[in-house]
Amino acid sequence: MAAPDKNLPDYERLGISDRKTPIGPLLAIATVASVLGIALGLLIDWFPIAASEQAGPIDTLWDVLIICSVPVFVLVSTVVLYSVYRFRQRPGEEDKDGPPIHGNTRLEIIWTTIPAVMMLALCVYAYVVLRDIEDAPAKGTKTLNVRVVGEQFTWTFFYKGGDGKDVASPQLYLPKGTPVKFTIQSKDVIHDFWVPAFRLKIDAVPGIDTSYRVTPNREGRYPVVCAELCGLGHAVMRQTAVVMPPADFDAWLTKKASGDEGAAGGGTAAGAAPGETDGKTLFTGVQPSCGSCHTLADAGTTAEVGPNLGESLKGKDEAYIRESIVDPGAKLAEGFQNLMPPTYGETLDPAEVDALVEYLLEQAKG
Ligand code: CUA
Repeated sequence: MAAPDKNLPDYERLGISDRKTPIGPLLAIATVASVLGIALGLLIDWFPIAASEQAGPIDTLWDVLIICSVPVFVLVSTVVLYSVYRFRQRPGEEDKDGPPIHGNTRLEIIWTTIPAVMMLALCVYAYVVLRDIEDAPAKGTKTLNVRVVGEQFTWTFFYKGGDGKDVASPQLYLPKGTPVKFTIQSKDVIHDFWVPAFRLKIDAVPGIDTSYRVTPNREGRYPVVCAELCGLGHAVMRQTAVVMPPADFDAWLTKKASGDEGAAGGGTAAGAAPGETDGKTLFTGVQPSCGSCHTLADAGTTAEVGPNLGESLKGKDEAYIRESIVDPGAKLAEGFQNLMPPTYGETLDPAEVDALVEYLLEQAKG
């Protein structure tokens, strides 16, 4: 076999000089694919309903990222797929080891510079968006401070009552249209406080305070989730954020604050209807609800995170049931680890605990 002619370009020595790269058709394919990809990317409903003023700029940022990244993805995939097909090994070429090719300096500079410039521009844009939406509200604007405490496996939300005392709630209540500053803390491991409808989230780290601001702008109930793997109960570390008219919120906070001081009537301690003392209603109404982890036929719940109460409570007495609610780690049903929030003793009214105990005692007998 004759030595390859050193003067020929690589593709000539490869014997593929008769087949030119079809730049035109490839560009057409890439353009059509990019347009379709961008259209699809913008049409897909990626996010849950937006319920904060901060959500708009974040969703726009996302759309811009889609518009910038789809063409890059399409370009790279087109070149890769084309090359895989075009330069595939053909019969008889099994022992060949293509010609030695030195890189193409100009090409390398281009494909390093363009992505670097794009990345830099997008980083600056993202930084500006984040800084803008976290700007402190103008002086004199009323801001609500909420301290969010995470622990295995629940969130507790602390408000300042009228007399400056902490008011604890297992459910997040917020007034519509008021800027809120969350200060996030953890009692044990790293959690992550996230209300997807507000878009922002941040880690809850033991020993330090983290924070962010949102302004809820849509009434409704939205999930609060933990977004950092924090142990076996991570998936059930879910509660509810309720955005309500400011007047309703003020009424709730006032009532809650007085309830905690032992005034008659109590508050809506656990998020169920005010003054609710029906055990069955509380079973599914408290936050986080008993029914979201436990099966109990009478209450119509079927979750399997914790023991099936229809079975595990059979023959148990009142003291055992009460302890299981307020100190869930004390005695564990066989085969279960303790994933239950340890906070029910504090966040439920005594009357609510009594009602739950009474209801579960009936079930234990039945
Ligand atoms: Cu807390 Cu995951």
